[in-house]
Amino acid sequence: MTYTTILTEIRRRVGIVTLNRPQAMNAFNSTMLTELFDALEAFDADENIGAMIVTGNEKAFAAGADIKEMAYASPFEMIGQGRVEKWDRIRGIKKVVIAAVSGWALGGGCEFAISCDMIIASESAKFGQPEITIGVIPGAGGTQRLARLLGKNLAMEMVINNRTLTAAEALQFGLANRVVPVDGYLDAAVAFAEEIAARAPLAVRMAKDAVNAAFETTLTEGLKAEKRNFYPLFSTEDQKEGMKAFIEKRKPNWKGR
Ligand code: HXC
Repeated sequence: MTYTTILTEIRRRVGIVTLNRPQAMNAFNSTMLTELFDALEAFDADENIGAMIVTGNEKAFAAGADIKEMAYASPFEMIGQGRVEKWDRIRGIKKVVIAAVSGWALGGGCEFAISCDMIIASESAKFGQPEITIGVIPGAGGTQRLARLLGKNLAMEMVINNRTLTAAEALQFGLANRVVPVDGYLDAAVAFAEEIAARAPLAVRMAKDAVNAAFETTLTEGLKAEKRNFYPLFSTEDQKEGMKAFIEKRKPNWKGR
């Protein structure tokens, strides 16, 4: 596949997408958004990939949706183009997606990062929702996901008063999983992703799905969803292998079935 706005790479069992519009701080134009999801869906379908990373460059993960592309659009043009619906494709990805964030993650860039399953942030990462400064609000999930991740008050401050979070704050408030030095931040994210890619694939998939259920529903329904994902794993070869390997005091050899 030839892409014009992203780069793709596979390191062992980790598929990496690098957003590559540095001249525009990796702002998401329509092409980049489509290419990003095409690449993630291709990795998702590839048996040799166990986990994925999306990253940008040291200065910018992504500075949001491309303002120049939508500045003069009417509501009906925005609706017709499915401007915000396009971002929902992230919800269809079954394997783990990690955002490796350095520099600016603003607007849609922040929204995309928090739509991923986990975030590795470089010390220079900055997260914010500056849409209010250009007369709009987040449209790719920011109001909902930030409120769930950070609680109401901080989400309000970010969305209404353009409060940005430093990497250290993102870690403190549970938005980032780890903060690592800028130098080598992608390697650190790859090492993290490789750990996940080496785990039992079906169990990882069921685990991701079950945790996500917590954001969709009541505790009672969420616990049912967890059970629905737990029991079928006992039909997999990997469950038999994993438990047998524990008893035999050896490393399991996962088959992904
Ligand atoms: C289009 C962008 C852009 C964006 C930066 N650029 N962000 N172009 N859309 N979101 C372009 C600039 O116009 C400039 O192009 C070049 O990238 C470098 O940016 P500078 O501003 O000169 O760099 P700097 O001074 O270092 O500031 C970096 C920055 C700032 C803090 C990231 O660019 C910024 O505030 N960007 C906008 C952030 C934002 O408001 N995002 C929310 C977008 S709305 P030229 O051609 O002048 O060199 C959104 C809604 C999503 O995301 C909902 C789903 C649709």
